[in-house]
Amino acid sequence: MATTPTPCSSSSDAAEMFLRDFHNNGPGRQSVNMERAPLADGRTGCQVPAAEVAGVRGVPDLGCADGALLEVLAEAGAEELAGIDLADQELALARMRPALTGADLRQGRAQELPFADGSFEAVVSHMALMLMHDVDRIAAEAARVLAPGGRLAVAVGGGPVEGQAMSLF
Ligand SMILES: C[S@@+](CC[C@H](N)C(=O)[O-])C[C@H]1O[C@@H](n2cnc3c(N)ncnc32)[C@H](O)[C@@H]1O
Repeated sequence: MATTPTPCSSSSDAAEMFLRDFHNNGPGRQSVNMERAPLADGRTGCQVPAAEVAGVRGVPDLGCADGALLEVLAEAGAEELAGIDLADQELALARMRPALTGADLRQGRAQELPFADGSFEAVVSHMALMLMHDVDRIAAEAARVLAPGGRLAVAVGGGPVEGQAMSLF
């Protein structure tokens, strides 16, 4: 019997459904590719935003996927780690990392962070924001969950990917 696709209320819903399904069907792809292609200085992409927030205790990763960046942060000494991602299969891989045993990993949208006001010293995101809609709202959410003086460290990528965040950056 034919199935009727779930209707989308907007193009951002459709984009999120595509990203969620893409990542659920191939979790871990992004971090494997990143390991294979280090930057010119030898670091991986995740080590760049991690270095920007060195020394923090608590930090959520927006679009954390399989937890590659959170693991780098854990190895650097961060103890209160959190992550949010659309794709539960990516989060399932993140939960398998021993370094992330205590991390607060949630399935959800960066536009609606399920974290309390002022609860983190930093917020990070790696190669994810340029794929997201309504980046003003994400920035507002990041500001809301940051403690006074907190830092937002974001790495975005361009190339063939076009999006609102990329053009704003
Ligand atoms: C290109 S991957 C990058 C993953 C990871 N940060 C890394 O560098 O390995 C983008 C991730 O962002 C997630 N994502 C996209 N839009 C999102 C949104 N609105 N809220 C939360 N996660 C989102 C996707 O599910 C995907 O796992």
